[in-house]
Parts: sequence; structure tokens; C-alpha cells
Amino acid sequence: MVSGRGSNMESILNAVADGQIAGEVVGVISSNSEAPAIAKCDQRQIPCSVVDRKTFARKADFQQALLATVDGYRPDLICLAGFMHILGAEFISRYRNRIMNIHPSLLPSFTGLNAQEQALAYGVRYSGCTVHFVDEGMDTGPIILQAVVPVYQDDDAASLAARILVEEHRIYPEAVRLFCADRLTIVGRRVIIDQGGKVNG
Ligand code: GRF
Repeated sequence: MVSGRGSNMESILNAVADGQIAGEVVGVISSNSEAPAIAKCDQRQIPCSVVDRKTFARKADFQQALLATVDGYRPDLICLAGFMHILGAEFISRYRNRIMNIHPSLLPSFTGLNAQEQALAYGVRYSGCTVHFVDEGMDTGPIILQAVVPVYQDDDAASLAARILVEEHRIYPEAVRLFCADRLTIVGRRVIIDQGGKVNG
């Protein structure tokens, strides 16, 4: 599910096309009829549905339409990839532990919008990105993978975002790969990764 550029979506599509992920992408849903992600789906002949937030006066109607569209694809996993809306309680309970999101900070720091600006303003020396399961809170669900990047003194939001994005494109497909290989178990708010017999892997 996307709302914009779709570079994380592409990283997942690429990993599926390369055979790194044991799964198929059944469809993409965009909440924005002008999202560049839509053309990227068209080029790859990936089904893409638009459920445009702007065409719904009421948030509840948007949520119902989203849910109906997602249900139509019968997904095992839903990946939020730059999807700019909070999912409703009904959506989350129907797909509990089957929705992932990527966030451009080391959670639990800097939730919500403009995470890179927040990190710069706070003055942290390291930031990064987090792939997590989605629960009812904002960026609060169980953490699957994180990656760390340094923050430099001459960074601005764009340079930091670009450094983080490289890591996003690496860890999001990896998290999807682990899910599709049935190697993720949620215990409380921890995610246990089956290491496939490796010690301290
Ligand atoms: C990424 O930085 C992601 O972490 C955040 O929104 C941005 C989406 O970029 N949730 P893209 O649409 O995947 O290129």
C-alpha cells in the first residue's frame, strides 16, 4: 500500500522478481491517484488499485473502501510502503500480525511525520530505519529489523533521508523474505527470527 514515490515498493518488487522472496505480489493499492508508484506498477504489469483519500468526505468511508479493496486481493501479508494514513481498528484486527510498515528512524525514537527532520533537530549521532508489524498505535508495533546510519554535522533532511533510504531498500525486502519463509514469530512485543540452525546468526 503506497501513497507516493514507491521506491520501497520497487525494492520489494525487485526482490520478488529476482526470486529472493518466496511469494508473489498480488497487487498494490495507492491512496493517491497521482502517486508515481502507480506508473511503476503499470510498467511491471502489477495490478494497482487506487482508493483515493481525496474522493472520500468521511475517513470511515475511506477505511471501508480500503478494507474491501485489500480483501479482494486476499493477501497473506500487507506492506505499507510510504502509505500516509493511519489504518482503522477493524483493518488492523482483520490482518493482525500480517501488516508491515517501514519507518525512517530507529523506533521508538521519532515516530510520525518528518522523522529525519526530527532526528536532525534532536541532534542524534545515529539514525536509521525500522521495519515493524503494525498495531493500533502510530509506529509502535513489534520491531522486525532495524538498520543504523550515521548523522553528519553538515546533513540536511534530504541528505540524511537519502542515506537512510539505501538501508530501507535493503531491510524491507529482507523482512518480507523472512515473513514469507515463515521465520518470524511474535512473542509479546518482540519478534523472534528463526535463524535456521545458525548460532548467533
Ligand atoms: C520512506 O522514507 C519510508 O520510510 C516512509 O516514507 C518514505 C516512502 O518512500 N514511510 P517511498 O514511497 O517508498 O519511495
